[in-house]
Amino acid sequence: MFQTIERRPPDPILGLSAAYKSDTNPNKVDLGVGIYKDEAGNCPVMRAVKTAEQKLWQIEDSKSYIAQAGPELFLKHSLDLMLGNDHAAVKGKRAAAVLAPGGSGALRVAAEFVARSFPGTRIFVSDPTWNNHIPLLGSAGLKLELYPYYDYQKHSIKFDEMMAKLKQAGKGDLVLIHGCCHNPCGADLNHAMWQAVADAALKQGFTPFIDLAYQGLGDGLVEDVYGLRLLASQLPEVIVAASASKNFGLYRERTGTVLVVTETPAATEAAATQVVGTAREMYSVPPAHGAALVGMILEDAALRADWDAELTDMRNRINGLRAKLVAKLQAKGVDRDFSFIQNEKGMFSFLGLTQEQVKKLIGDYSIYMVGSSRINVAGINNANIDTLVNAIAAVL
Ligand SMILES: Cc1ncc(COP(=O)(O)O)c(C=O)c1O
Repeated sequence: MFQTIERRPPDPILGLSAAYKSDTNPNKVDLGVGIYKDEAGNCPVMRAVKTAEQKLWQIEDSKSYIAQAGPELFLKHSLDLMLGNDHAAVKGKRAAAVLAPGGSGALRVAAEFVARSFPGTRIFVSDPTWNNHIPLLGSAGLKLELYPYYDYQKHSIKFDEMMAKLKQAGKGDLVLIHGCCHNPCGADLNHAMWQAVADAALKQGFTPFIDLAYQGLGDGLVEDVYGLRLLASQLPEVIVAASASKNFGLYRERTGTVLVVTETPAATEAAATQVVGTAREMYSVPPAHGAALVGMILEDAALRADWDAELTDMRNRINGLRAKLVAKLQAKGVDRDFSFIQNEKGMFSFLGLTQEQVKKLIGDYSIYMVGSSRINVAGINNANIDTLVNAIAAVL
């Protein structure tokens, strides 16, 4: 049966990692894969996670299955982290959270839930978007449409074009929006833009689907959910796929959340049972470890404060690197305005280089990035920033 199977072409980003690993240049720089890195180039286990793991090891007395929706503590704090306990949707019991295996798992379960409940549903996604959105959402059965988003020349959001395209979205359609720290471009909606999206959704009837993979890595834990909270307070329905991979550093533990907000407590409860039931058909029960840690950290004041402090350091480091890169490119006399990098948020930005220039950076300077010139800003550090700046100046 498997004799006719063809090999899949390698994943371009994972292929980049392999090429980086085998490169013997001591000054090589990895700005490819989307994981947070510290000044030493490591993707660390956060302090609060380590402490919670020690506590969990002591108190965990069973590896039996956990509740299908996920542990109570995790669900309670997920709602609070995303919407806030005083949010009308939470107080009115119109919001429910379900644990999923990572942000990808949350995206897929949410997409499967909608596609099975409403076959033929369209989802409008930004152009560009995270590459994996297309297969994750498309193979669940949602019909993908692109809306214009990033202007590569002006390094800003093509908001008028975006809204013009979204005029086509109506009742029964989903519109996927990156909650903060847009991957791959780093250009986020401002407050007025969020309001315009809310107004359009209310008028036209589409349902926003928020991908929240970087809460806390843009402007702050609360600032980064401004748009989500606004939509959830003004609209009858919102769906969210959130990830704890980046803001808790729990990548391999596969910890994420599907959050559903509907018009009534009864519809929310029904939707949550459908999300859980959909997951049951896909992988049965969610993984426990990461969710237990997140619940413990957010429940314990000291652990929470330590997590918040470390996340703040990570955010400040990224924003500091953005400013430093812009300043160094300017000081180098590069004849191009890179100030947009300082205004963008989160781990990613496009440098705005051609594929040829990216090839040269990789081939001649061992500086690895995706072909679109998307860089992971967190991969920059004090030891490699001058190498990077000199190489960019040279290829330009
Ligand atoms: C925009 C976006 N959504 C979702 C995810 C999925 O994250 P996870 O690793 O939790 O599946 C990522 C990860 O890179 C992402 O960038």
